Amino acid sequence: MKTLEIHGSTGDSTIRVGETLQNLGKYIPAENVVIITDVNVKRFYQNNFPPHPVITIQTGEKIKNLDTVRSIYGKLVEFGVDRSTVIIGIGGGIVCDITGFVASTFLRGVKFGFVSSTLLSQVDASVGGKNGVNFKGYKNMVGVFSQPEFVICDLNLLNTLPQKEVLCGLAEIVKHAAIGNADLFKYLEEHYQKALALDTGVIERLVYDSVVIKSAIVNKDEKEKGERRKLNFGHTFGHAIEKTTGARHGEAVSAGMVMASELSVRKGHLQPKAAQRIKSLLRNLKLPTRLQADRKTVFDALQKDKKRQGDGIYFVLLEDIGKPFVHKISITELEDVINDFY
Ligand code: GLY
Repeated sequence: MKTLEIHGSTGDSTIRVGETLQNLGKYIPAENVVIITDVNVKRFYQNNFPPHPVITIQTGEKIKNLDTVRSIYGKLVEFGVDRSTVIIGIGGGIVCDITGFVASTFLRGVKFGFVSSTLLSQVDASVGGKNGVNFKGYKNMVGVFSQPEFVICDLNLLNTLPQKEVLCGLAEIVKHAAIGNADLFKYLEEHYQKALALDTGVIERLVYDSVVIKSAIVNKDEKEKGERRKLNFGHTFGHAIEKTTGARHGEAVSAGMVMASELSVRKGHLQPKAAQRIKSLLRNLKLPTRLQADRKTVFDALQKDKKRQGDGIYFVLLEDIGKPFVHKISITELEDVINDFY
């Protein structure tokens, strides 16, 4: 097991990569604990849960909303939760986001932690302190910054993950490598087949290095005033594509990273060869490099991006693999890029 620390204004968080769900009891009190999980995780792993009350939610982005939050608040009242209670989310990104949001708002905030069960949540959603839910179709529109006490990334839980979900996690790992570590990018190029086969040694390095990159950025800029924006590489186009095509997050981010690389080339910052390496790696990892979408709908979604400021969007471009920078790009220029693409 390897550990990492995040030091946020809302508290410190310890990420344990390679720790197991079976050992969760070591990190929580013997009493006053409530577990939040989803139906799938419960079906596979309930026998490994410590003996505490469990709230079970459904799966899918559609349930990541205030109705689900309200129903969990109701159960917490029924359980007589007080400020000494610790809430633990066991699941993927949706469980972690909802658990973090509920725990940070119920009784003005109780302690919480995660056991992260998907590759995507291990490398992204459970790390960083942003916890939110969707509102009126907009992703993560309502939320808080609040660090979990701890995150356990149990690599064994990945074995029951559908391959599509594995691919979504790999897309975020490519993103971390592209913005933060050229050596990790090269390692992925050399080991993509083992990554796809969930080889334990390879996955452990990928998860750990990803979390190192993300936590270093979050430690510098928890509240996304500057540095943290780099984590949005591929996400501005990605979110617009996700919203308009219904593609999975990782698939849309993959196509979004290709668009952002091509925009970097078009603006003269990135060598075409480097953009081609990104595209080839994504293709080798069975991720889409282009998703068919209606250009007007994508543009409309982009205009409503919550990162928009005035007539532009802070956009992440690359100078090279491992060397991102943030640049405000006008909506008009983004429209041109979308027109060229579609
Ligand atoms: N919880 C995800 C993040 O903070 O980025």
